[in-house]
Amino acid sequence: CGIVGYIGKRDVAPLLLEGLQRLEYRGYDSAGIVITSPKAAGLRMVKAKGRVRDLEARVPKRFAGTTGIAHTRWATHGAPSDDNSHPHLDTEGKVAVVHNGIIDNADDLRAKLTADGVVFASETDTETVVHLIARAQAETLEEKVREALRHVEGTYGLAVMHADFPDRIVVARNGSPVVLGIGEKEMFVASDVAALVSHTRQIVTLDDGEMATLKADDFRTYTTEGSTTSATPTTVEWEAESYDMGGHDTYMHKEISEQADAVDRVLRGRIDDRFSTVHLGGLNLDAREARGVRRIKILGCGTSYHAGLIGAGLIESLARIPADAEPASEFRYRNPVVDPDTLYIAVSQSGETYDVLAAVQELKRKGARVLGVVNVVGSAIAREADGGVYVHAGPEVCVVSTKCFTNTVVAFALLALHLGRIRDLSVSDGKRIIEGLRKLPEQIAEILRTEDRIKEVAEAYAGAQSMMFIGRVRGYPVALEASLKLKEISYIHAEAYPASELKHGPLALIEPALPTVAIVPDDDLLEKNRAALEEIKARSGRILAVAHREQEKADHTLVVPKNEPELDPILMGIPLQLLAYHTALAMGRDIDKPRNLAKSVTVE
Ligand code: G6P
Repeated sequence: CGIVGYIGKRDVAPLLLEGLQRLEYRGYDSAGIVITSPKAAGLRMVKAKGRVRDLEARVPKRFAGTTGIAHTRWATHGAPSDDNSHPHLDTEGKVAVVHNGIIDNADDLRAKLTADGVVFASETDTETVVHLIARAQAETLEEKVREALRHVEGTYGLAVMHADFPDRIVVARNGSPVVLGIGEKEMFVASDVAALVSHTRQIVTLDDGEMATLKADDFRTYTTEGSTTSATPTTVEWEAESYDMGGHDTYMHKEISEQADAVDRVLRGRIDDRFSTVHLGGLNLDAREARGVRRIKILGCGTSYHAGLIGAGLIESLARIPADAEPASEFRYRNPVVDPDTLYIAVSQSGETYDVLAAVQELKRKGARVLGVVNVVGSAIAREADGGVYVHAGPEVCVVSTKCFTNTVVAFALLALHLGRIRDLSVSDGKRIIEGLRKLPEQIAEILRTEDRIKEVAEAYAGAQSMMFIGRVRGYPVALEASLKLKEISYIHAEAYPASELKHGPLALIEPALPTVAIVPDDDLLEKNRAALEEIKARSGRILAVAHREQEKADHTLVVPKNEPELDPILMGIPLQLLAYHTALAMGRDIDKPRNLAKSVTVE
């Protein structure tokens, strides 16, 4: 979900609607806006089920105000509907709240408030907070919010307006991102810098347990207990233009196309030719500590988990440290053994995914050392970690991750090389990997130039009801990620299997109607992979191979340039992003905003 708010002198509704557009990738089943101005008596609100453009169509011509908060929602409690959209108002229409997160004790609170005579207008957990604030006895809005939050268990990023206090917006954070944008005689708030950068680059990120009061010419931050906290604005690096589509029809296409530059950025300034290694300034792990690591555990969700799987392979092969990746969401619920010699690495594009953040917090509580491989600078996971590697992919807006996946894997290659060179990796192998890394941007550009051919192939497979993706060892996570990409945006059922496991079950599915995408690099496993292709062909299965040269058994081959075997997975993933893209396009899907999904899942 997305929150955006403004207080200043400008006409607020267009500003907030623009902010919501920029946040729509965070959730998009309903949206709403509430405004006021110093002169206005009371709050005015408009809400709509659907996209931000549906809300825009409902906003009356005369809807003047200079203070407002708005929200785009991705339903958790209560189905998408006008009533369940945010903002929520209390019965008298004086208090308005927009909220991201989940109130865990909402049912209890609702029962108590209902017993006290409160009539609820929606099914949402958020509405309980509104009534608690409206009924709070305290004098100031800040204290009312604080009083209400004392009863609330769960996660929130919230923004509050009150008709009796039209000169301010009060915000609070616990587990769900809140950033303040500091302007000249105007202040902004949002759940994501994406909504702010076209207005100001001066940002204050709230910590959990922190609140803030925004007035047109002033802001202050304090804890939920009321003690003042220091908040020095930092300047965000990302340009407002990075959030525009830049001539592409979709963000996904733009982000796929940017990958050569993005990879260039993650490498920049980090390669050390003298020692055939890399510098990772923020790692916070000295050579002695790195030598003491006995095991590495990588945690992430979705695409970041897949990047972690490739990362684990890179670390094992280059640094010879046993490494594996696990979905953070699973890890946190299985009471894992936390071993002092294990280094934990949390992977996240947004740096806000709740399951990953919760896993990091649990690990830290148990005394583990946790590094982050994160894209968004200053995000919650980046701050919570002991150190880490920034991925520098730039803003990623499309719900499904492409350039950030690629950059994350490259960041893991850097980390693996760094650890390897501290341990057993020879100078010449270090050199070999560095040369390979340097070749990546140009090789990515070369793959992107074959888009027309990939499009043709995608159209040939777009009618399939289901697709199988196979790969072996390094190729398997590539298959997993490619199958995820396809199902997310085309809604075609897809599954990924290790090529070696085919004969242990999935071969039963193979028939002409189930095409297989096979990852077939020219490496030591080539012959084994070719055998798998034969098995499929023998059952009349159609095959699309991603390989370093044409594969005779395949109906189609997408040929990619060869790099070092360890780095080949990075390149092999790229044509498959375009395959998913063009398949979804041929099927008329809403590529940037696939149904039921959100860019960041900041709730459990
Ligand atoms: C959501 C998105 C995925 C993403 C995952 C992890 O499920 O839809 O595309 O991979 O979250 O996000 P993160 O920001 O932690 O990488």
